[in-house]
Amino acid sequence: MTVKSRLTTTVLALVLTMLSALLDPGHAASGEMAPPAVLANTCFACHGPDGQAKGEIPVLAGKDGAFIQSALKGFRDGSRPATIMNRIAKGYSEAEIAALAEYFEQRKK
Ligand code: HEC
Repeated sequence: MTVKSRLTTTVLALVLTMLSALLDPGHAASGEMAPPAVLANTCFACHGPDGQAKGEIPVLAGKDGAFIQSALKGFRDGSRPATIMNRIAKGYSEAEIAALAEYFEQRKK
């Protein structure tokens, strides 16, 4: 195994661990909600700290909350095309989506 492929495997393992935590169905069904800043933390890995992504993945910071909500609901019900957000969005309740949208809308761009 080369160093590069080992690194790729490590990164993949991290992403998968994160996804399985996100997709835990018991969490959304429990009716309890983590504080918005804690919920949003799981998004930072891809969307950058506080949603201020620098690469290919869209910036969330300062985006319109209504847009973020409708994007997440579209990902969740499959009506919005996605590579990964369709799987991530399934783990969130209406209330959590609203809290995430408000959190990112209030971040600085
Ligand atoms: C594993 C990486 C990853 C994680 C974690 C992640 N996203 Fe995404 N997000 C993406 C990618 C990639 C896209 C582009 C659409 C696609 O291909 O799925 C995207 C797109 C979006 C969009 C649409 C933005 C636009 O301008 O079109 C929103 C809103 C969004 N994500 C919100 C979130 C929220 C909220 C979280 C945390 C609950 C989150 N994402 C976690 C990778 C991620």
